[in-house]
Amino acid sequence: MKILVLAGGTSAEREVSLDSGACVTAALQQRGHNVEQLDPRDVDIADLSGDWDIVFPLVHGTGGEDGVLQNDLNKSGLPYIGSSPEASALTFDKIRTNELLRQHGLAVPESVVVRSDQSLDEIRELIRPLGEHFVTKPPRQGSSVGITIADSIEQLQTALSLAFQYDSECLVERFIPGREVTVALVDGQPLPAIRIVPAVAWYDYESKYADDRTQYLFEDEATSHSLGELAKQACALCGVTGIARIDLRVDENESPWLLEVNTIPGMTSHSLVPKAAAKAGLSLGELCEAVIRAKTG
Ligand code: DAL
Ligand code: MG
Repeated sequence: MKILVLAGGTSAEREVSLDSGACVTAALQQRGHNVEQLDPRDVDIADLSGDWDIVFPLVHGTGGEDGVLQNDLNKSGLPYIGSSPEASALTFDKIRTNELLRQHGLAVPESVVVRSDQSLDEIRELIRPLGEHFVTKPPRQGSSVGITIADSIEQLQTALSLAFQYDSECLVERFIPGREVTVALVDGQPLPAIRIVPAVAWYDYESKYADDRTQYLFEDEATSHSLGELAKQACALCGVTGIARIDLRVDENESPWLLEVNTIPGMTSHSLVPKAAAKAGLSLGELCEAVIRAKTG
């Protein structure tokens, strides 16, 4: 099959995307496919034309996961793997996604949205109900860029300054004590749930891509199944297809809390989706082939 992999782009996750693209390109070439890789930074996607059977977008973050690339691909008329522009735009926005999931009765951490034009005193009052242990997130970023996990209100100002470098809004969530878990899905079907045990305080950018001490454990079958069902529900509500990944926390009472829906999850050698696929007996190439076949018939 003739496949076009799109990677790179201009977001804060450009380097991760280039790595994801290289890994998927190599894996598909190994399976005997004719794979070309392009960087959307260098080409006009809406005007792209070629005899590719399918396009495999692996551009993370702004311009890749927010629906812009998918819109351009629709204009080009080329068939592509993954979510629609609408589902991408929705899930790229953690505020909108949380609202939708909450409306449908799924558990997401209690949160408050604050703006950079509000005073620190005002924000302090607004987030008081969340307690002293809270998480600040730029609502439209990936790979933990701009996130702080604070365990005291003293950290608020520094946390907000970081988050506001990326967005004029900041999502402040109650921190869920317990463990971090992720579920990868292939066309809505969950793979085994992975428990992430970072060597440092939390799973930040460094532990995601550079720290070889991060441990990846698998949840037992029953837990994996119930988390998989929850992830499936979240994906269906958001209209997400192709390869996706849902991040969660499981609290000390074993209750799961949804954190986010990723429509173009990392596919690097450090990433979670390839690890979940391996546990299910699929190589990265086989996993990618499965979604391509589902799309091309
Ligand atoms: N945003 C990164 C690439 C991930 O979700 O894996
Ligand atoms: Mg993400």
